[in-house]
Amino acid sequence: MIGRLNHVAIAVPDLEAAAAQYRDTLGADVGAPQDEPDHGVRVIFIALPNTKIELLHPLGEGSPIAGFLAKNPQGGIHHICYEVDDIHVARDRLVAQGARVLGPAEPKIGAHGNPVLFLHPKDFNGTLIELEQVAG
Ligand code: CO
Repeated sequence: MIGRLNHVAIAVPDLEAAAAQYRDTLGADVGAPQDEPDHGVRVIFIALPNTKIELLHPLGEGSPIAGFLAKNPQGGIHHICYEVDDIHVARDRLVAQGARVLGPAEPKIGAHGNPVLFLHPKDFNGTLIELEQVAG
C-alpha cells in the first residue's frame, strides 16, 4: 500500500541556520521557507535525488513542533512521510486494523498541496508517520 519515501522531517531550533548548513556545508538544493499555518509549522524543503528533507520549525501558538523541541532542544527526526495512491483507502484500511489517526480523521492539505494524515507513533515502532496522497 505505501509507496515511495516522500520525505524525512527534521525539527530544528533555528531554521535559517539549519538551511544554511544543508546548503553550504552539505551542498544540498535548499528551497525557500513556507508558512503552513494549518499545521503550525514553517518548513523548508531540501530536494535530494531520491527524496526530500523537510526542516520544521514552530509557527504560532500551540505548534505541534514546540513540545518536540522542548524535549529535543538540538532538534531531531520528527516524522517520515510515505506516499499512497488514495489516502481515504489507506486510512480506512489502517483504521480497520486498529491504527490510530492523529487529529481529525479527514485528511488535511499538506505542504505540497496534497492531502495528508498522521499515524500515532505508538502504533508504528515509535515513529510518527505521515501519509501523503501523490497522484501518479
Ligand atoms: Co511532513
